[in-house]
Parts: sequence; C-alpha cells; structure tokens
Amino acid sequence: MNSTVTEQLIDFNEKQRVFHLHNNLISYIFSIEKGGFLSHLYFGKRVRNYHGQLKNPQRDRGFSDNLPGTQDRTYSLDFLLQEYSSQGDGDFRKPAAVIRQANGSQSTFFVYRAHTISSGKPKLEGLPAAYLLDGSEAQTLTVTLEDELSHVELELMYTIYRDRPVIARSVKLTNKGTTTINVEKLASLQLDLPADRKQVISLPGAHMNERHLERENVNFGVKSFSSRRGTTSHQMNNFIALCDPNTDEFTGDVYGFSLVYSGNHKEEVEKDPYGAIRILVGINDEQFDWQVKSKQSFQTPEVLLTYSDNGFNGLSHTLHKLLRERVARGKFQYALRPILVNNWEATFMDFNEDKLKPLVAEAKQLGLEMFVLDDGWFGHRDDDRSSLGDWQVFQKKFPAGLKRFADYVHTNHLKFGLWFEPEMISIDSELYRQHPDYMLQVPGRQPSPSRDQYVLDIGREAVRENIHDQISQLLDSCPIDYIKWDMNRHLTDIYSKALPAERQGETFHRYVLGLYKLLEELTTEYPNILFEGCSGGGGRFDAGLLYYMPQSWTSDNTDAVARMQIQYGTSLAYPVSSMAAHVSVSPNQQTGRTTSLQTRGAVAMSGVFGYELDLTQLTVAEKTVVKKQVSLYKKIRPIIQYGTFIRLLDPSKGNHCAWMFVATDKSVAVVFSFKLLAEAQPDFKRLKLAGLDPQKDYQNTTSGEIFGGDELMNTGFYESIQPGDFNSQMYYFKLV
Ligand code: GLA
Repeated sequence: MNSTVTEQLIDFNEKQRVFHLHNNLISYIFSIEKGGFLSHLYFGKRVRNYHGQLKNPQRDRGFSDNLPGTQDRTYSLDFLLQEYSSQGDGDFRKPAAVIRQANGSQSTFFVYRAHTISSGKPKLEGLPAAYLLDGSEAQTLTVTLEDELSHVELELMYTIYRDRPVIARSVKLTNKGTTTINVEKLASLQLDLPADRKQVISLPGAHMNERHLERENVNFGVKSFSSRRGTTSHQMNNFIALCDPNTDEFTGDVYGFSLVYSGNHKEEVEKDPYGAIRILVGINDEQFDWQVKSKQSFQTPEVLLTYSDNGFNGLSHTLHKLLRERVARGKFQYALRPILVNNWEATFMDFNEDKLKPLVAEAKQLGLEMFVLDDGWFGHRDDDRSSLGDWQVFQKKFPAGLKRFADYVHTNHLKFGLWFEPEMISIDSELYRQHPDYMLQVPGRQPSPSRDQYVLDIGREAVRENIHDQISQLLDSCPIDYIKWDMNRHLTDIYSKALPAERQGETFHRYVLGLYKLLEELTTEYPNILFEGCSGGGGRFDAGLLYYMPQSWTSDNTDAVARMQIQYGTSLAYPVSSMAAHVSVSPNQQTGRTTSLQTRGAVAMSGVFGYELDLTQLTVAEKTVVKKQVSLYKKIRPIIQYGTFIRLLDPSKGNHCAWMFVATDKSVAVVFSFKLLAEAQPDFKRLKLAGLDPQKDYQNTTSGEIFGGDELMNTGFYESIQPGDFNSQMYYFKLV
C-alpha cells in the first residue's frame, strides 16, 4: 500500500529516548539506555505505536560486570540487547567492533552522542548498495556513537524503505582522535533478539554444488558462516536467514540478512547463556586489519535486513523485488535477457573461427538470440595453463581478428558475447613477463597455483589500469554485446606490493574495492553491454556483484537434477532474473547422469535460459524439441524473469520438486513440476499452487480444464504419473 510522501518513517521520542523506524509492514525499535548505550527492543511486524512499556529487564547476574563508576549491580552490557557492541565493555558476547588504539588497547565504550533523521539514503563511497529512485522512497536515521577515550566515532546508518519490509544498515567509522588506530573488526550489522527458539538457514556448497538450503537450530555458543577465500565463495554464501522452528515456505516469521559485498564475509549467530540471540554480519575480521589515520574514515559494506511473516516465499518475494528493482542497475535491469548458446561445453578450448561458424549458423536456425564465445580466444590459450592477462585475440584461431567473427555472428542476427577472466594472470603470459610484480605474492615465497593460475593485485591502480585498457581496446575494436566476467580461483598469498607492512591486513578488502572500481568504470563506459558474473559457476553470487552485473552463471554443474537443488536454494535469496541456466548434453559432463531433453529444458527455462552444447550434433527430432523450447521460452520469458517466483516442493525433502511463476497481474501462471526417481507404487499426490487470484478462474491451456484460482491453491490437482526417472511437467494456466 502506498503511503503519503509526507509520512514520517522514523520517530524519536525524546522523553523515552526511543527510536521507532516503521512503515506499514515493519517496525524497528531501539532505545538510548543508561550510560548512553543503545539497546535493541524490537524488529518485526509493524506496531502502530510503541508506548514505552517494553523495557529490557535488568538483574544482578553473577559474573556480568557493571558500568564503570557505578554501583548498580543490575545493569550490565553482558546481557543487554545491544544495537552495536564493542570489545572490552563488559559484554562478553562476540563484539561488532574491535578497534586497536595507539597504546595497544582493544577496549572501547561506544555511547550515544547525536542523531539525524533525513529523507533519502546516502551513497556508500566505492561500495555497491541498494539505492532509491527518489528521495521520498526512504528515510535514514544516522546515530553517532563515540568512544570518549580514543575519540573514534561510529555512525550507524539505518535506511527504512517506505513500501518494503527492508532496512539497509551500514556503519561508518571516523577517527576523530589524533593518533592512528586499526580497525580489526567492524560488522555492518548487529541484531540482538530476545531469548527464543530459533533456527538459522544458510547456503553452503562447493564448486558445482552451490547454495544448498541448510537449516539448523540455534544452539548455545557461536556458530559462524564465512568465507576466507577472498570472494563470496561457492562454499558459503553471504546470505543467512533466521526463522522460527515452525516457519515454512508460506507461513511463519523469518528475518533475512543479505550482505552487499563480494569478498571475505562472516555471519555470526550467537546464543548467549540466557538464550538471547546475537547476529553479526560483515567483512570477515580474520586477516583483516585496516589502518585509519586521524581524520580518516572507514565505511563498511551494507546489509539488507528483511522481514517476512509469510514464510520463506514471502522473504524471497521481498528480496527478489529489492535486488531487481533497487540493487541491479543499467539498461538490462528489466530487459528480457537473450537466449544464448555458449560454446564452452561444446568445444572447450578446442576451436577456431571455422569450427565455430556452423554452431553460429545452427543457433540462428533454432531461433536463439546470442552466441557466447567462452574461454580460449585470447593470447595463445589452447589449455588453461597460459595467457590469462593477455586480452588480445589468438591469431591462430581467428586469423583475421575477432571482429570478422563478431560480424559473422551479427550477420546471423545473433548478439555476440565474450568471456573474460580479468582478475587473473598466468605465468605463461606477456603480462607476467612484463609485470611479474602484478600478482598477489608474499615476497620470497613461491605462490600457490590453482588451475595453474594466479591472482592479480586488482586493488592496485596500475594493475587495474592495465587490465582496463586492454579490455577497452578490445571492446572499442570489436562489437561485443555481452561479457561473461569469470574468476576461477580463490585468493592465497595475500600480500600487496603496493602496501607497507602495517597495511597488509587491508589487502583482501582493497582487492574487492579495486574490483568494484574496475566494474564501475567498465559498466559505465560500456552501458550497452550486458555483463554476466561468474566464478567457476556460482562462486561469487551475491548482492554486491548484482549491482554491476544483473545476472550470474549459477553453477558449473549443468546436470538438471543437481540444478534443481542449486536453483531452489539460490532462489531463497536471489531473483530468477539473475540466475543463468543452460541445457547441456546428456549424459551430463559433470555427473554422468542421463536426463531427457524435456527435463533439462524445464530446469533451464526456470532461469535465464540458454544452451551449452554442440547444437550441430543434435538429431532432427532433438532440434524440433529445441525449437519448441526456444519459442516457448520467448513466450513465457517475461513471467519467468520478472514475474513472482514461488517455491512449492523442495527437492531435498522428497521425490518431487515444483515451483511456479505468476504474472504480476496474476493473469498467467507457469508451473514446473519434477519427479525424481521412478516408483512402482507412487502416491497419488496433489499439487497445490499459490499466488493466484482466488476469485477468478484459470484454464490449463494444454488440457482445456478450468479451475478456480482458489481450487488450484486449496484442492490442487493430481498430476499424471510418468514412467522412468527425472520426469518433468509444465503447466500453463491462463485467466478465463
Ligand atoms: C569457469 C566457468 C565456465 C567456463 C570456464 C572456462 O569454470 O564457470 O562456465 O567459462 O570457466 O574456463
């Protein structure tokens, strides 16, 4: 529901010393307590008005110390629900901030000094963040805290959107003292919640096995989810959710925490001795040490804090809209993404212009829209041991240059896409021969290879400029419509030759800032190029990268059955318009599993659709199926990419998987349902839909059957039982 522009979203009650951030959907309340400490009171469904009766209880608890200079034994930070904690202040839980001062002390006491409430949302210097289209969309509360002794100031930023259950939070530290300090930890967000039984959802995985839904009880102690790999990682995504034990896809409370960042991260969930829960989210403090000189500042990345009382689908709905509408940017933000064919699984690096041309011609015949040339077109790259860093075309494969081939693709009425891996260097490269110092490497120590490649110190300006200039020379000389920006290893040998000894702890974060700078430049200079993120599949699938690149390769695993879980998990936190999914050969190259072209198509059509196989090798019958898939996808594409996505059946919980897409006006629904293994005596199960108009009637356009929206959602319908493994069905329902 739209509110009026003038409605205040943030109140400060002077008498109670209470802040209340609210819109029609949520309330977030905290107070300034004795000693100037901020205490969290509530986050959840909207309350009209906070009357000041709810106070965090106090009590004399043994071994919980009290405020310096006071004799009140009942008041301790050790069990106060705090808004933002630090180390050494008597709160023995995990701190949000750890600051090392000139005398070596790591203790700080941050207390309230001032606050401002303003409309709009400030930009975060050098970092991706959710944005506004106009200033009236949100209001921002900035609370300034100060440590009296060191004169370090923290500005806690809270932006509440008017029409979304979302609060964007970040922290800016400013050193107002006269001596240099070191930030050892600065979380973007702390959320302390009262004692309650909760569960935490995370998205762990591995290369070719990303973002599986993991749900576990929050138990006593600290549980942390993190990456120390220099990037978001396949191994642990930087999204977590906290829910009630009975929350399911459609009902129950859930809080989401999305870190808008692409480097080392940590999400800590602590249940304290009295059952209260603390969440901390931000840059991973391990191997992090940032020097802040007098008068300088440090800005943390942003966390998008979301709330739903409609279960996980409710949360995903908020996140999908938010990431699509207020994080993704540029010309392709709402564009229908082209159906592509990528030559990677078709040829790997064994190709040349002549070998590729028939693939292009076939793609055109089958109705595809873009041809993507993957790894192996540059330097002298015939395998993955050379040429990273040399972004000039490989003459042997393209004797007349890349432009002639790009023109050929364009004359076939296809767009032309190209693969890059800009952050990497091979020892066997011109770049290494000229600039051996450009890679991350500890002086005197041999660096560790991974896939025979090394990482560029992209935090350094000279390195960035070199890569930027090479890429732009190519883009200026050859018409390119899409870039797949890959990153095929994680960071080791953390040492930047551009930094003095005392700043080496900044290398990881400077890498990410450098990457963002390079991406900001290239995406601004080439606004007509669609960028797709990739890191060995979905190794850097996060809200930070989405700000520069509206879609990402979801996984190097193209097996349809494995993809069901990967896409199901990914969809918890990320919109379908960001999830690239391709049909590849069967048996699958990663798992050896055999699946039908129909099932492979159905899974891939549930994302940003494409093919990744040798189209010329398809039989006539298969080509007919592909043509049908392509034309079907063109029809359903707006609903798939920009409609409402709803998860129905979780493939990790049984023998079925199902999800659906509903047009924004509820006039059309597309449902995909999958059965995993064949059963001799299958259940007669009904599939129940969601998100339809209960008052209207819908027709299954294949069978002609008519159902009420309420019938489809409440009574459901029986699916026909297909023989064999890994079957799929698609239903298209249209308003009558
Ligand atoms: C990564 C990507 C693949 C492919 C290869 C090329 O693994 O995820 O899709 O581009 O690199 O080397």
